[in-house]
Amino acid sequence: MRKHAIAAIPADGIGPEVIAAGLQALEALARRSGEFELKVEVFPWGSDYYKEHGVLMPEDGLARLKAFDAIYFGAVGAPDVPDHVTLWGLRLPICQGFDQYANVRPTRILPGVTPPLRDCGPGDLDWVIVRENSEGEYAGHGGRAHRGLPEEVATETAIFTRVGVTRIMRYAFRLAQSRPRKLLTVVTKSNAQRFGMVMWDEIAAEVSKDFPDVTWDKMLVDAMTMRMVLKPQSIDTVVATNLHADILSDLAAALAGSLGVAPTGNIDPERRFPSMFEPIHGSAFDITGKGIANPIATFWSGAQMLEHLGEAEAAKRLMRAVEKVSGSGLVTPDLGGTATTQQVTDAVCEAIRAEN
Ligand code: NAI
Ligand code: MG
Repeated sequence: MRKHAIAAIPADGIGPEVIAAGLQALEALARRSGEFELKVEVFPWGSDYYKEHGVLMPEDGLARLKAFDAIYFGAVGAPDVPDHVTLWGLRLPICQGFDQYANVRPTRILPGVTPPLRDCGPGDLDWVIVRENSEGEYAGHGGRAHRGLPEEVATETAIFTRVGVTRIMRYAFRLAQSRPRKLLTVVTKSNAQRFGMVMWDEIAAEVSKDFPDVTWDKMLVDAMTMRMVLKPQSIDTVVATNLHADILSDLAAALAGSLGVAPTGNIDPERRFPSMFEPIHGSAFDITGKGIANPIATFWSGAQMLEHLGEAEAAKRLMRAVEKVSGSGLVTPDLGGTATTQQVTDAVCEAIRAEN
């Protein structure tokens, strides 16, 4: 029996609702397979913990997480705690402390989902966006001086290193190579930003030599937004900086029908540390406690986690179950349905059990 240790961090808002759903589906998959076992420990960290202890996770948080094979994360953010406090207090320390430098965001139109683009159906949009997740615009490099005075100044410096850009580029080329179309788009803004972005382009050209079977092209990020909307079929794998890919992947999620279905993996490709899997969406205060959060993004990130853990069969089974249920029209209100989180979860677990 293969054993995988999972640290679950449900955190805030709808985070606990969708992680509970995700854990039910994972448990159903483990039972269905009979070949692997998930040992889950739930950590009560997040904004409530912060209000009690003044920190979002304890000082030895990373040391405790390090023993796990993967982290299953909900969402962090509360109406009465500033967003930069919650983000820099929990998610980013994990991503950066564990050097999860590849943020991988698959997007595709699931059956039963009506996407906002008129001429775009399932099959027309099947992308993976790779986001550099350790440096760039979110390196945390900057400062403020003369606070509150008229001459106040703030800097926010983007950091691009040859090591950082090369490793994400290699990851993206390898991922593109593993997909049927072997197609990669490298996104920058190298016309206006002459230093870091030009280095991206140069490194892309260097790395591409090791992947002669991958077709690749370059796009400026502003033009890329148009291409995503007007020619979604022309895109397969995409690599971009921390900021650019953050924005592009929200657009991708919207084009695929809902933020509620979009998953992401924060991956340490070298496997020195646990990788972290989470829905892209946040804690969604407006629907917290109503029982209507869409659990599909969390299921899908669970599938990414299983794949990372070497359980590719179970990952595929989970996505088949999700597609069967979404295709049947049993979906939450964000997708135009009337189902609750629990109804969707029960149906997915049932589909997992029922499949031969
Ligand atoms: P959000 O993603 O929480 O919500 C945006 C909109 O999408 C809301 O109308 C919400 O109801 C809807 N939505 C999101 N997830 C959904 C789901 N699973 N099912 C159905 N509808 C869903 O983004 P927002 O409102 O900008 O941020 C709320 C809080 O979440 C903030 O504190 C923010 O900092 C935090 N946040 C945390 C993230 C994380 O932990 N990775 C990511 C994004 C935001
Ligand atoms: Mg975002």
